[in-house]
Amino acid sequence: MTEPVTICEVGPRDGLQNEPGTIPTADKIALVARAVAAGLRQIEVTSFVSPRAVPQLADAAEVMAGVGRVPGVAITALVPNETGYARARAAGVDRVAVFASATEGFSRANINCSIDESFARFAPVFRAARADGIPVRGYVSCVTDCPYEGRVATAAVAAVAGRLLAEGAAEVSLGETLGRGTPDQVAAMLDAVLKVVPAARLAGHFHDTGGGALANVDVALARGLRVFDAALGGLGGCPYAPGAAGNLATEALVAHLHRLGHATGVDAGLLAGAARFARSLKRGAEA
Ligand code: HMG
Ligand code: MG
Repeated sequence: MTEPVTICEVGPRDGLQNEPGTIPTADKIALVARAVAAGLRQIEVTSFVSPRAVPQLADAAEVMAGVGRVPGVAITALVPNETGYARARAAGVDRVAVFASATEGFSRANINCSIDESFARFAPVFRAARADGIPVRGYVSCVTDCPYEGRVATAAVAAVAGRLLAEGAAEVSLGETLGRGTPDQVAAMLDAVLKVVPAARLAGHFHDTGGGALANVDVALARGLRVFDAALGGLGGCPYAPGAAGNLATEALVAHLHRLGHATGVDAGLLAGAARFARSLKRGAEA
């Protein structure tokens, strides 16, 4: 019997954050509703970051208000600091995600501070979330390659992942930000991380720029990971990671997992419709 796998749908956040055209708030809310209808039970709906840094997600509070509370679904939002946490909490999130980097270069470009400073900014988030009973997910970006520093040492990834766990992260998501990592690189990185974070607390977040994301999912599955992030329609890219294209497409991930015999709780037919809708948002924004 193959074990169930959980998918964290990051399309509304990671998929849309880099879209240059204006995507109406109502369409973002409709995308989340379609993800829910397809059976996705963890959805990262938006980011409470500086609207100047990520203008596409400046309507975070309105998106959250439109989505509302969905029984059985963990509605998640990205928060970089205490201000972001307060906004997300007021908007009614079920879970927040802080985001760190394995490299100083990406940390500086993405959140304008060093890795140590980022942990100082996360500390009040972890503290408040613990008091409020809100689980915190912790991302590590650039787990194999960095747009500013090249190849990333596995020890650097393990150090940041271990630090997130020690601060109180319920789950650590390993971000292969550039979609360039080979299965060998991912295997070596995971072997280092698994010495400090158990597989049950890890998620794989593979961008698919080079078309290798599913091969990297297989490497992670073989090492016991059972949570993967993906974006409907394969949308995505990070404004601070030049050259990074889409996320692994949720529909491709689900088809792959079902072929391997893993249950996901997702209806492939409804998911295909949701993926078409996600791609139409990109086209609409371009038009
Ligand atoms: P900073 O300049 O160091 O921070 O930015 P600051 O505290 O000096 O604030 C600067 C301005 O932002 C101020 O406004 C603050 O009020 C405002 P001003 O006085 O200039 O008008 N501000 C905020 N506004 C709303 N919500 C907030 C907030 N915080 C400050 N939470 C900061 C630091 C982190 C805020 C900024 O650099 C930022 O927002 N960056 C955005 C980063 C981002 O969203 N990146 C993309 C997501 S990460 C990703 O995609 C990777 C991932 O998918 C995994 C992977 O693939 O690797 C997760
Ligand atoms: Mg990402």
